[in-house]
Amino acid sequence: MTQFSSQHPEPFKIKMVEPITLVNRTEREKALENAGLNVFNLLAEKVFIDLLTDSGTGAMSEAQWAGLLSGDESYAGSPSFLHLRDTVTEVTGFPFVLPTHQGRAAENVLHSAMIKEGNVIPGNSHFDTTKAHIEFRKARAIDCTIDECFDPTIDHPFKGNVDLEKLENAVNKHGVENIPFVLITVTNNSGGGQPVSLENIRSVAEFCKERKLKLFFDAARFSENAWFISTREPGQIGRPIPEIVHEIFSYGQGMTMSAKKDAIVNIGGFIATNDEEIFEVCKQYNILFEGFITYGGLAGRDMEALAIGLKEGMDHAYLTSRIEQVKRFGDSLHEAGIPTLRPPGGHAIYIDAKRFLPHIDQEQFPAQALVCELYLESGVRAVEIGTVLADRDPDTGKNRPPELELMRLAIPRRVYTDNHLAYVKDALVRLYERREKIRGLKFTHEPKLLRHFSARFEWV
Ligand code: F0G
Repeated sequence: MTQFSSQHPEPFKIKMVEPITLVNRTEREKALENAGLNVFNLLAEKVFIDLLTDSGTGAMSEAQWAGLLSGDESYAGSPSFLHLRDTVTEVTGFPFVLPTHQGRAAENVLHSAMIKEGNVIPGNSHFDTTKAHIEFRKARAIDCTIDECFDPTIDHPFKGNVDLEKLENAVNKHGVENIPFVLITVTNNSGGGQPVSLENIRSVAEFCKERKLKLFFDAARFSENAWFISTREPGQIGRPIPEIVHEIFSYGQGMTMSAKKDAIVNIGGFIATNDEEIFEVCKQYNILFEGFITYGGLAGRDMEALAIGLKEGMDHAYLTSRIEQVKRFGDSLHEAGIPTLRPPGGHAIYIDAKRFLPHIDQEQFPAQALVCELYLESGVRAVEIGTVLADRDPDTGKNRPPELELMRLAIPRRVYTDNHLAYVKDALVRLYERREKIRGLKFTHEPKLLRHFSARFEWV
């Protein structure tokens, strides 16, 4: 049956296009072999539909492109910096703003200012660069996300929530003096792009306030998180996104931002805080690592595009069309019987590799195997969020297979049509039909740090 009916049409039309081509199966086999069965090593021209990440891959608007031309490139005190700073303050309420070249750079600066050896940083699931920056400083990240997050079949509206009891246990165990801040990541990327409720954020904030703990946000997808609150949370339905965003940040002392996500720029990030003391220390590290405090590793034009994108990314009609597209894609896979993490996330659909490939042991990287097979089948690039990404335990040196073994299909913003995603769905259906023939992988090269990005494998 052919279905052709409108659902939440995109509030834009397409002005510029970039050709993509599907290279044939033989070429894909060769390309993947050369890449050591790691899609991070693939040349992008060998990829047809690229769902590796939603980071820096969005399509900028005409207003953002115009901002690239009007950006001011003064080393110090650029009006583009002022535009960025004032926009960040207007959106988040935080008066002190430092630009950085991307999210992990903001983490590097903030963590240098705040984290010491032996510290712990509790929160919901930490993103891998965040965790790596924490562990690099011989500190530890403690995942206090609610249990529902770790069962991919449970349909819970706010699977990114922090479990207050787990948080309390972590604080009691390690002591307030060893916790420089509690971190909430919105949305919870590592746990399936799942939102955190406003009520949960309030409770965590209250908990922190009682114990004089600081609360920070990893805010890469704060607009998408606010959209979920405005559509799912009792008492918040229909509330304007900017209002929700403002309230979220009012509960914290600061944030790091990878602007490559919800601010729809190809590069950029920042730190924002209301704590002048922390800001003063961060300034020094920003100059050391990033650049002067009024550009922080960005060109003036990048700051201009970022300032514009930060607001565009909060537009309700845009967020509805985006997140509903991700949901349609996820629901179509679910209806086809393919095991996915439910409910669909804000920026990505996650395939549950444990249920897709139950015959492959986690030590043989089933999600990574699935990523390879999907590329061979269709030229589509996904990414593993499983045992490879989880790295080895820094204390024991052992693999630490995570509860969720996932293949993530991240959807770039304003880039692909439903028809592109239907192509991906059809490929996954064919893979699912022949899933029993898919084999696991083993390392041929395993780097010590962040192995996900440069490891090489062979088929078992
Ligand atoms: N925090 C979260 C929640 C992220 O998802 C990312 C990046 C970062 C921090 C780091 O930001 O890349 O600008 O340095 N996530 C990308 C992804 C890479 O594919 O999910 P960055």
